[in-house]
Amino acid sequence: MSIREQLWQLRRDYSQRALSEKDLPTEPFDLLKRWLQDALSEGLVEPNAAALATVSKDGQPSVRAVLIRDLDETGLIFFTNYESRKASELSNNPRAALLFLWTPLERQVRVEGFIEKVSEEISDAYFKSRPRNYQLAAWASPQSQPIPDRKFLEDRYKEMEARFEGQEVIRPPFWGGFRLVPERIEFWQGRPNRLHDRFLYMRQNDGSWSIVRLAP
Ligand SMILES: Cc1cc2nc3c(=O)[nH]c(=O)nc-3n(C[C@H](O)[C@H](O)[C@H](O)COP(=O)(O)O)c2cc1C
Repeated sequence: MSIREQLWQLRRDYSQRALSEKDLPTEPFDLLKRWLQDALSEGLVEPNAAALATVSKDGQPSVRAVLIRDLDETGLIFFTNYESRKASELSNNPRAALLFLWTPLERQVRVEGFIEKVSEEISDAYFKSRPRNYQLAAWASPQSQPIPDRKFLEDRYKEMEARFEGQEVIRPPFWGGFRLVPERIEFWQGRPNRLHDRFLYMRQNDGSWSIVRLAP
């Protein structure tokens, strides 16, 4: 069977759960936390993985996965290289969109808003919590730059091992966290017959959130 034939046959009806008006808290973070907790409790693989979209100066969107490491009323935090492609796009246009896709739960969450750097203290604290080999890799990798071969990376890693031998690996100045501060958050729950539940929270000027149900 061709790929196309196989893809045309794939069809899953979503029936596990529902999301209705009565389930909606006034703060979308409370629902996001609840759904993230469900994804953690259900043992999903990397439930904190999300697709992060940024836009280049000339309007070309790009998307890649990141791991969300914290979540509160101020936003969603991930860590990366401040000289990467995503970071350079964000320095030109500090707006981003993010998607959690939890297919086993028949759920997706879309987040849109602006991006700011987290404080040095937050980046330091998270960097400290990382295993040493990950800390060294952050130093070794000029993320998003072309490199000649695998050996280049492994040699840089060994250099960093030697540089930090017997010492704590400090956070590279070019590595740290970003916070996505949401202005819109949409919750999508798969339902039977493709009649899914969608609720969009939009932040108002006074900081409160409006909620609308959207057609699937
Ligand atoms: C599941 C998963 C999680 C990832 N998490 C991160 C992350 O938290 N931070 C990061 O910089 N890259 C992460 N990556 C790698 C990015 O997807 C991407 O390759 C890298 O950040 C470079 O992207 P850029 O060139 O667009 O800046 C992850 C990749 C996968 C598949």
